[in-house]
Amino acid sequence: MSFIKENLNLDPIVDNVFSVVKKAQVAKEIYGSDNVIDATIGSLFNEDLSLTTFNSFYDIYNNLSNVLKAKYAQSFSGNDAFKQAVLKWQYNGSNINLNPRVIATPGGTGAISCCISTLLDEDTTLIIPNIGWSSYKLMAQQNNLHIQEYEMFDSDRFNMESFKHICTDVARKQNKLLVIINDPCHNPTGYSMSLNEWQQVIDFINELSKTISCTILNDIAYIDFAYNNEVRKYQDLFNDISDNVAIITSFTISKSCSAYGLRCGAAIIMAKQIEVSNQIEIIFEKFARSMWSNISNSCMVTFSDMINNDVDKYQIELNNYTDLLRTRSKIIIQEAKECNLVLYPYVEGFFVTIKVDDIDVLNKYHDELIANNIYTVKVNKGIRIAICSLPIEKCYNLAIKLKNILDSTIIVSK
Ligand SMILES: Cc1ncc(COP(=O)(O)O)c(C=O)c1O
Repeated sequence: MSFIKENLNLDPIVDNVFSVVKKAQVAKEIYGSDNVIDATIGSLFNEDLSLTTFNSFYDIYNNLSNVLKAKYAQSFSGNDAFKQAVLKWQYNGSNINLNPRVIATPGGTGAISCCISTLLDEDTTLIIPNIGWSSYKLMAQQNNLHIQEYEMFDSDRFNMESFKHICTDVARKQNKLLVIINDPCHNPTGYSMSLNEWQQVIDFINELSKTISCTILNDIAYIDFAYNNEVRKYQDLFNDISDNVAIITSFTISKSCSAYGLRCGAAIIMAKQIEVSNQIEIIFEKFARSMWSNISNSCMVTFSDMINNDVDKYQIELNNYTDLLRTRSKIIIQEAKECNLVLYPYVEGFFVTIKVDDIDVLNKYHDELIANNIYTVKVNKGIRIAICSLPIEKCYNLAIKLKNILDSTIIVSK
């Protein structure tokens, strides 16, 4: 006798992150935190190992009245001022001419889940990168969707051939395409696509859309920590999409304002045809109403106040944190080069990832790192080092340790 829907997968969640986070905490209690490298946590931490918080954000939040905090939001799709602020912040530098619609969501998870749950029909296929955030797969599973993965890399570039091949293959079998591109600052590799790569993606999707409707879900969770000041330039290319293409970006305050627990973000819907934007907005609003009803009023008010009245202060804080990430990443990247530790092509962002193709070696390597009090996250074909939570002094001499343990793991595995 079953108490749940027939098609749901009953395997318990295997969380590769929180289980190692716990182990690292235990190790720190036993051996002292000076003797443990904890590169597991995917949130931004200061050098003193406290979670970063933006004064520009919390100075506003902490001054909001209890009534404002207690209130429901203005509508199921979010407060108007919040929607305007999201567009202003994410698309200010770009000249987007695509009937944008914004739906407030519980973080980036809500925005991505909203797309995956409402756009594809059951038993069809979602396209995701072969190295990526694990929740995409879980969301697909929950919605009885199959997945096909494009290879992220061809050497140190985005694997355009694989992207095209997988999209074309899926397009042959169904009448709608949904493909996720987590860019810039890809989790877990820190890759950011070039303008030229984005141009090729848009050109290809336009071509494909002659026979099938295509949606690109651009997960921009880490965009605000890009090192490149012109990071949003690629979004200008969105204006070139054809009538049969939609682009949805998922934005999150979890990362952008280091406010992970407030659960606020947005899906930004864009399409050439106003009817397409309207159609998607309607189903997203219904999804919101049925799944979470509405989003924290106080968080939306804080974000819009900050963007409208204190954006310079916010930008200064953001620049400082981005510089911190840059400093940490430079040390690891430089030392990795010196000792020939092969990393995936890192450009910017919260994580760097060691390339490990062989699954046996990967499993053993991860165990060996733990045995040496180095805590990391195992991802598909790699070991993720969360530089976002690793202080500068712990970045020094890490690459050589990682390389030595990898070499000895490979020798033992032969
Ligand atoms: C690539 C990526 N997208 C989206 C999210 C969503 O985060 P949240 O739901 O906290 O906004 C995360 C969180 O780790 C992520 O790594």
